[in-house]
Amino acid sequence: MNKSVRKAIIAGNWKMNKARPEAKELLEAIKPLVANAEGKVEVIACVPFTNLETAISVTDGSNVKIGAENVHFEKSGAFTGEISADMLVELGVEYVVIGHSERRQYFGETDETVNKRTKAALAAGLKPIVCVGELLWERECNITEEVIARQIKLDLFDVSKEDVKKTVIAYEPVWAIGTGKTATADQAEEVCGFIRSTLAKIYDQATADAVTIQYGGSMNAGNAAELLSKPNVDGGLIGGASLKAADFNTIVQAAVEG
Ligand code: PGA
Repeated sequence: MNKSVRKAIIAGNWKMNKARPEAKELLEAIKPLVANAEGKVEVIACVPFTNLETAISVTDGSNVKIGAENVHFEKSGAFTGEISADMLVELGVEYVVIGHSERRQYFGETDETVNKRTKAALAAGLKPIVCVGELLWERECNITEEVIARQIKLDLFDVSKEDVKKTVIAYEPVWAIGTGKTATADQAEEVCGFIRSTLAKIYDQATADAVTIQYGGSMNAGNAAELLSKPNVDGGLIGGASLKAADFNTIVQAAVEG
């Protein structure tokens, strides 16, 4: 297992927060703080659709990359309220969060639609950040590994070896998201390592070693360094703490040092 063969990625997931003037302000504050991460850690802000154009223009020429928080799987058509991968690419978006637990929980997202969105994103040239994670009840029933293996197999079904290397996996235990209850570094490492071994079974070890696996779920300025020091935790998907420039930067700097 060699951490240096893959990219460390710290991504903010802003969720449904920040109107455009606030988005501009936050990104202007983040840019100079994280400039030193260039070439060491990929820094991404995944923002609401309405902020994408602003975010791309504010971060132009900097090392902050912009992602969307969802994408539809069809190319175009009668899908009121949806946004296609081509539309995101045309704007200059590079990354997209897919299958976040909030989408699975509140918007009927299934492994089947996660798989379709992932393939559509890859086909259009976007890099997907595919979220997986167990519910508290599933962890208590000792089926975390079954749940994660099933999600990985279904969400990445028919995704080629070349494409999976462009895909980021975010391990986000649902019980840790927005709850202030972080997985311990050992718990995060255990499941991120399990995800890598599942990828090695589906593809091969070299491919699995090349995939960036993030932890997400109440990662913050205080706990990031320990989580990121683990061999299979290659980055973070950060919700609440990504809305404060100083906190987000502390996490980025932990990744630069880790
Ligand atoms: P949180 O969210 O950091 O606020 O727990 C993480 C996420 O949902 O990606």
